[in-house]
Amino acid sequence: MSGLFVTFEGIDGCGKSTQVLCAQRMLSEEKIPCTVTREPGGTPIAERIRNILLSPENGAMCDACEVLLYFAARAQHVREKIAPELDKGNVVLCDRFMEATLAYQGYGRGIDLETLFGINAFATGGVMPALTFVFDIDVAAAFSRLEKTGKRPDRLEGSGREFFEKVRAGYLALAARHPQRIVVLSGADSPEELSKKVFDEIGKRLRRHPRPLS
Ligand code: TMP
Repeated sequence: MSGLFVTFEGIDGCGKSTQVLCAQRMLSEEKIPCTVTREPGGTPIAERIRNILLSPENGAMCDACEVLLYFAARAQHVREKIAPELDKGNVVLCDRFMEATLAYQGYGRGIDLETLFGINAFATGGVMPALTFVFDIDVAAAFSRLEKTGKRPDRLEGSGREFFEKVRAGYLALAARHPQRIVVLSGADSPEELSKKVFDEIGKRLRRHPRPLS
């Protein structure tokens, strides 16, 4: 696998999806091949699983079902899309990946982290991001951004403030455990400032890359 796998993480409303698109634009300006994808989703099967996960009608879903569906979507996504793109030497920019499961289902829902590491290894076959951004933002600020979109909250977004405080703390704990790979940026910074920092970090990793991407 000679490509560079970069993931974008943070609580809902942190601004990460905008940054994925900025990074895509800047890489294409530099003529660096890149693929943008997301979790849950990224392939037809995984997008169908996404609909089940996020649909507010599925309020009765238990935590075990929820986490296994995230892993099921990931298993398909890695094999059908992420691994083949990395094998071609491309940069893959993914809106959420394994840190989301650890933060939301581990720290947020309280599922044992060791259990999650084991199932994640099975689901991904060992494919790991080389670089992860966490966009850290105050929960109240994130909620007010989500409200401004005027969209009906999905099943996860409706989980309440206390849940998101735990998820936010979870992301910061994960970043503290993996300081080489996980870069924490302030989601309160302007999109322009953030995209510059994101591009600098990706650039550093590309320069260190064993096979320069053309
Ligand atoms: P999105 O709104 O950023 O596309 O993500 C969908 C929701 O799914 C979001 O609330 C975060 C949540 N999620 C998890 O709870 N666990 C996971 O493993 C992933 C990938 C997402």
